[in-house]
Amino acid sequence: MTSESGSPRGEQTATQTAPYLVISGGHRLAGEVVVSGAKNSALALMAAALLTTDGCRLRNVPDLTDIRTMGAILESLGVRVRPGGPHTLDIDARFLAVHRAPYELVNTLRASFFILGPLLARLGMARIPLPGGCAIGARPVDLHVRGLAAMGAEVRIEHGMVEARVRRLRGARIYLDYPSVGATETIMMAATLAEGETIIENAAQEPEVVDLANFCRAMGARIRGAGSKTIVVSGVPKLHAADYTVIPDRIEAGTFLTAAAITGSTLRLAPVIPDHLGAAIAKLRDIGLHVASVRPDCLEISADRPLVAVDIETLPFPGFPTDLQAPFMSLLAVSDGTSIISETVFENRLMHVPELNRLGADIRVRSGHAIVRGVPRLSGAPVTATDLRAAAALVIAGLAAQGTTTVNGLHHLDRGYDGFAAKLKAVGARIERIAPTPAAEADPNCEHPPSEPARSVVAGADPAPITAS
Ligand code: UD1
Repeated sequence: MTSESGSPRGEQTATQTAPYLVISGGHRLAGEVVVSGAKNSALALMAAALLTTDGCRLRNVPDLTDIRTMGAILESLGVRVRPGGPHTLDIDARFLAVHRAPYELVNTLRASFFILGPLLARLGMARIPLPGGCAIGARPVDLHVRGLAAMGAEVRIEHGMVEARVRRLRGARIYLDYPSVGATETIMMAATLAEGETIIENAAQEPEVVDLANFCRAMGARIRGAGSKTIVVSGVPKLHAADYTVIPDRIEAGTFLTAAAITGSTLRLAPVIPDHLGAAIAKLRDIGLHVASVRPDCLEISADRPLVAVDIETLPFPGFPTDLQAPFMSLLAVSDGTSIISETVFENRLMHVPELNRLGADIRVRSGHAIVRGVPRLSGAPVTATDLRAAAALVIAGLAAQGTTTVNGLHHLDRGYDGFAAKLKAVGARIERIAPTPAAEADPNCEHPPSEPARSVVAGADPAPITAS
């Protein structure tokens, strides 16, 4: 691809040391995008596979660095993780013996904290480094910890470690001060093998919570109410093997909807579960897009009117997802009028604003709100992603920007989007991933330096185990 400015690689080739994307903006997309399995479901399901001594098979697992990291964490505990075919993982936790998770891996993946509940339920003890803060906010784990303590676990937090012990977890009535996805999942997993009944009140209602409940049910757990505010889990002595398919990724689908919208394109997405995208679809319609189901699992979006501003407030499901806030900000940056975006879930999740402004957006941040004044067009520039969804937002903006946009910080994008650039390219985007030379690849900021490649655990023929390195 050659940009309008002449350089096929954007402006940064002389100093570039890590992979980056070069996007030539202003081209329409057309066709159908295949949506991958949901990252956030797959990560929780991988942890839940620890609950049984039988092997489990997970299908439709996306090929992502976060999944590889979680695989490495499970292997460090003595669990066997093998690819069972394309996008399929076989997890055998029969020999789960280690109750300590390695700091170097947990540190790169907050979702690794999900193993706390299953470790306690299976081994009666767990020692896991606190996941710590991350770019989008402090993200404490107090709700996870209080839930497990209510179930009889003795939990101490010392020297940056959460150490928990229990003879056998027992059911409890637990009210969550906030409907935390992670805390609901931790408590639900722990409760499957607890003695008696656990009631989680003010539970998260996200589709990924429902998917986890369905997987646990497939393993023999007794769970009702997942998807509502009250989840009831009746503990059973043992869970068994299950073969389970992860739901489609609603956040990936929502991101592609914004890609179509910002480029004025008609695009189909499948497989999707439209009910999982209710808030995003409602906002797209308010902005002026047509969104319709053309098959039960396929959405079509088309654009034939000018885009107009809307206000968005991120909320727990079924409210507007915080994970789509950044890509929608890119879309609203070129929509006519002033939009106010209020981020209520994570306190620090507006770091993409200065980067979008580098592309010509007019966005100001005032006490957790982004005031987005629509501009007629964005203009390409080099930009750097600060977190996973910010990375997607910058790519979306680049698709519409005049000229060439280079997006750096792809290790963020690779955590959560399986083949994002390739999928966009397949529907007509002018986008290239520029790989660095091997010598230049040693980027100290990258989560997976090339000396210790995080191998694919889901994508195909290689039957070798992943390693914890
Ligand atoms: C999950 C998703 C993430 C998504 C988020 C909200 C995974 C792997 N990640 O993250 O992509 O953006 O849900 O939909 O599934 N909180 C506490 N104490 C706790 C736990 C959470 O105060 O013990 C706070 C958090 O700081 C945050 C809010 O609750 O402000 C929501 O967090 P939570 O729903 O737990 O998100 P995660 O499970 O971390």
